[in-house]
Amino acid sequence: MRVQVAIIGAGPSGLLLGALLHKAGVDAVIVEQRSADYVLGRIRAGVLEKVTVDLLQEAGVADRLLAEGLVHDGIELSFGGARHRIDFEALTGKHVTVYGQTEVTRDLMHAREAACLQTIYEAADVAPHGFDGTHPTVTYRKDGVAHTIACDFIAGCDGYHGISRASVPPASLKTYERIYPFGWLGVLSDTPPVSPELIYSNHERGFALCSMRSMTRSRYYVQCSLDDKVEAWSDDAFWDELRRRLDRAAAETLVTGPSIEKSIAPLGSFVAEPMRFGRLLLAGDAAHRVPPTGAKGLNLATADVGYLARALAEHYAERSDAGLDTYSQRCLRRIWRAERFSWWFTGLMHRFPETGEFGRKMQAAELDYLVNSTAASTALAENYVGLPLEG
Ligand code: FAD
Ligand code: PHB
Repeated sequence: MRVQVAIIGAGPSGLLLGALLHKAGVDAVIVEQRSADYVLGRIRAGVLEKVTVDLLQEAGVADRLLAEGLVHDGIELSFGGARHRIDFEALTGKHVTVYGQTEVTRDLMHAREAACLQTIYEAADVAPHGFDGTHPTVTYRKDGVAHTIACDFIAGCDGYHGISRASVPPASLKTYERIYPFGWLGVLSDTPPVSPELIYSNHERGFALCSMRSMTRSRYYVQCSLDDKVEAWSDDAFWDELRRRLDRAAAETLVTGPSIEKSIAPLGSFVAEPMRFGRLLLAGDAAHRVPPTGAKGLNLATADVGYLARALAEHYAERSDAGLDTYSQRCLRRIWRAERFSWWFTGLMHRFPETGEFGRKMQAAELDYLVNSTAASTALAENYVGLPLEG
């Protein structure tokens, strides 16, 4: 098989890149190691910045998102037994849209199917080759048969544990990492959300987050220990713990029900520089990770893909490599800003046993400043709603 672009990974990055390239008349194939159902079964992000909504619209896959997505003009911060609203619309004139990553992925998969674009699912031993030369290939096995895709470029959209970044010689790559000493235990349930907006709670017992997927489906998280096992958390134990970490009004209104998904995610910050190695370009979690507190992971991934799709379209339509040459640099500026915001917000909202009572006092003082200073609230709001794609 021969294509212009071989995409490794059918998560949101790979699927969105496929859709944008199709719009630009660039032909691409996607190779994914899992099944489509497995990819759809992973419950992850829920908050979309304007940049993500715009790119999905550009790709022609935003109809359901625009009809069903919930526009949120602010969030609430809960601490010291009370809630304080950060009004995005008043502070920045912007909002975010609550629509699950699973639904974004489903819409992209349907559009791909409808356009008869090829995705090879359940591909084993996927590997990129020859990207430092002019004739790269991607090899894989399907049903025991070996295949080779010849291409001009390889897009590594295969997430944090993927093969693309791992195939780059270590001397060509610089990585930066921080592992947090806790995780998030998440529960999805068919119950109405406790409040119309997201609640981020800083509590003595640990962080909690009340989020949602719709007015009938809620997503909640509590900070947990890295030693915790999902199986050891009954639904009742989860709801009790969540209730304890909310203000009294929220605790009293919380509607509980059986969990339809329950999982633990470790928290980490990670960046690999650069993001281009000859004809291999990394995008999304393949190049970086943020703790989910700032709701940036998916939005950073779509922004990378926005730059990459434009750069590849320019390469073919205008015979210009300016976009490819500046790809890393453009993405990394935005990535480091999101890394900083996610690191700061994580530090402000979680319980860090090692920082002791002094650390708790510092958090309380910073939260007090944050909700009483227009400049500080505006900085939070600007970072949360995100930046436009420049250029
Ligand atoms: P992924 O979604 O990881 O997709 C990569 C794809 O590549 C996968 O389908 C994988 O199967 C495939 N793949 C991997 N290796 C290979 C291979 N060798 N060959 C072929 N295919 C391969 N962000 C938020 O904003 N909010 C959240 O609440 C949130 N929660 C998260 C929870 C977890 C457990 C994780 C892991 C991430 C979470 N994120 C969250 C981050 C967000 O979901 C990611 O940033 C987003 O999924 C990135 O999309 P991606 O397409 O780059 O990578
Ligand atoms: C979610 O709804 O899953 C979600 C929302 C906001 C975050 C993280 C996760 O910061």
